[in-house]
Amino acid sequence: MKLGFIGFGNMARALAEGLVGSRALDGASIGACARDREKLGRATAACGIRAFDTATELVDFADMVVVAVKPHQVEEVLQPLRERLVGKIVVSVAAGWTFDRYEALLAPGTAHVSTVPNTPVAVCEGVVVCERRHSLDAAQWRAFERLFGRLGIVQVVDTPLLSVAGTVCGCGPAFVALFVEALADAAVKHGIARADAYRMASQTVVGMGRLQLATGQHPGQMKDAVCSPGGTTIRGVAALEHRGLRSAVIAAVDAIEGE
Ligand SMILES: NC(=O)c1ccc[n+]([C@@H]2O[C@H](COP(=O)([O-])OP(=O)(O)OC[C@H]3O[C@@H](n4cnc5c(N)ncnc54)[C@H](OP(=O)(O)O)[C@@H]3O)[C@@H](O)[C@H]2O)c1
Repeated sequence: MKLGFIGFGNMARALAEGLVGSRALDGASIGACARDREKLGRATAACGIRAFDTATELVDFADMVVVAVKPHQVEEVLQPLRERLVGKIVVSVAAGWTFDRYEALLAPGTAHVSTVPNTPVAVCEGVVVCERRHSLDAAQWRAFERLFGRLGIVQVVDTPLLSVAGTVCGCGPAFVALFVEALADAAVKHGIARADAYRMASQTVVGMGRLQLATGQHPGQMKDAVCSPGGTTIRGVAALEHRGLRSAVIAAVDAIEGE
C-alpha cells in the first residue's frame, strides 16, 4: 500500500508521524506534495517520507490519497486530478467535506471516504471519525480501517453527526490541554516542579482514558471509585461542581456547534 498526502501541513504531518512511528508503513511508501517545495522538503525529511513536485506525480505514486489541504482549497486542487483519482482510495480530512460534496466533485465511481482525525494520531492515540456513508468497496474499507486503525480508533458516525463528532475529537484536544495545564499549575502552586507537574497531569489524563476504554466503565463510577465518604477527593469534586466544570465543557461544544 502506498499513501500520498495532498497538502502536508499540521494534520498530514501528524498522520504521517503516526504511520511511520508505528511502522504501519515505511517512509518509502508514503509521499506528499504541497505548494512550497522547500518547506515540503524540510517537513518530509523530518518524517522520513518522500516529497513530490506535483500533485499529479503524487497521485500516480499512491494507492490511497489523503486530501489534507484547507477546506476552501479542496475543489481547485482536486478538479484537475479528477480522472487520475479513479481507481484510488480518496481519504478526505478536510472539515465540512462530506460524501455528497465529493460525489459532486469526483468522477463517478471514485472510492472516497470523509474523515475528521485529531492530532494525537501522531502518537497513535488519535480518533479518526469517519462518515458512515462512503463509496469504498469491502476490500478497500478493510485496507483503510487496517491502516488508519493503527493511529488510534476509527469511529464511524452518520453524516449529521460528523460535525459534532469532529468538534468533540478535533477541538477536544485543546480542552484537554487546558485541563492538563490547569492541573499542573495547581501542582506547581503547591511546590511541584513544572516539568514533573506536566508529566504527572498528562499521564493522569492518559491513564483515565485508557482505563475507561479498557473497562467500559461509566465515568461517574470511575469518579466514585476514588471518592471515599468524607474524604479529600470528594471535596475537590464539589469545588469543580461549584465552578461549573461540566457545564463549562458542554458550553464549549455548544459554542462551536450551536445549542
Ligand atoms: N489541524 C487539525 O487539528 C485538523 C483536524 C481535523 C481536520 N483537519 C483538516 O486538515 C486539513 C489541513 O489542515 P492543516 O491544519 O493541516 O492545514 P495547514 O497546516 O495549513 O496545511 C495545509 C497544507 O495544504 C497545502 N496546500 C495548499 N494549497 C495546495 C495546493 N494547491 N496543492 C498542494 N498542497 C497545497 C499547504 O502547502 P503550503 O504550506 O506549501 O501552502 C499545506 O501543506 C484541513 O482541511 C482541516 O479541515 C485539521
